[in-house]
Amino acid sequence: MNYFWTLTLFFFLFPFSLNSEQPSDAMKTISLPDPLRTGDTSIEEPLQKRRSVRSFSGSSLAMHEIGQLAWAAQGITQTERGFRTAPSAGATFPIEIYFIVSGNDEIPDGLYHYRNSDHTLIPVIPGDLRDELSRAALRQESILSAPVTMIITGILQRTEQRYGERALRYMHMEAGHVAQNVYLQGVALGVGTVVIGAFNDQEVSNVLQRPAEEHPLYIMPLGYLP
Ligand SMILES: Cc1cc2nc3c(=O)[nH]c(=O)nc-3n(C[C@H](O)[C@H](O)[C@H](O)COP(=O)(O)O)c2cc1C
Repeated sequence: MNYFWTLTLFFFLFPFSLNSEQPSDAMKTISLPDPLRTGDTSIEEPLQKRRSVRSFSGSSLAMHEIGQLAWAAQGITQTERGFRTAPSAGATFPIEIYFIVSGNDEIPDGLYHYRNSDHTLIPVIPGDLRDELSRAALRQESILSAPVTMIITGILQRTEQRYGERALRYMHMEAGHVAQNVYLQGVALGVGTVVIGAFNDQEVSNVLQRPAEEHPLYIMPLGYLP
């Protein structure tokens, strides 16, 4: 067999062997169930009950709960202009949402990007990334014990084009709005979380394989209360 055919056969048999970070076959785009837009919980109750939670029962979250939390973070609530559950300076929308999912019955382990235009999870990296992410965040235990972790990132240029130097402050403010939505939606679902700001930016970017222009802003481990 000549060199060309040997190489062709190799790539046919081991399509991902040269890059272990390609999404695996098991990871597919996941259509999340439609989020609830009304509910029985008052707004006052989650405001009263919200507390940071750092240890979790270990049970995986249901797919509809992950979808509900994604919607609370960045769901589109007005289709014409793409307005979202959280406010955005000049509707420039710098924020992006990712999930690390581990040990879930419905969703294979890996990193997913939340695409809010059609409420889906797009595979990014396969595997259990909790250990790596925890190491990038001063080994915080809450990340290791959470079955799902949301990562909030921001693409500064989107806002910078309109607001110049003020964009950095706006992007951080927006991460705060998003995180508070997730805290409150979590209380309504019985899901605990904590905002993690203590991490090494570059190391988190490396774990998530994000480009330099996308900044990790907050890590939010999510799980049922123990
Ligand atoms: C900007 C910011 C960064 C934070 N970083 C961390 C963190 O890295 N790890 C952690 O366990 N909690 C972190 N927290 C959560 C605070 O410790 C927590 O909000 C505070 O103790 C008050 O408790 P409460 O949220 O239950 O009201 C952070 C909170 C904020 C606002």
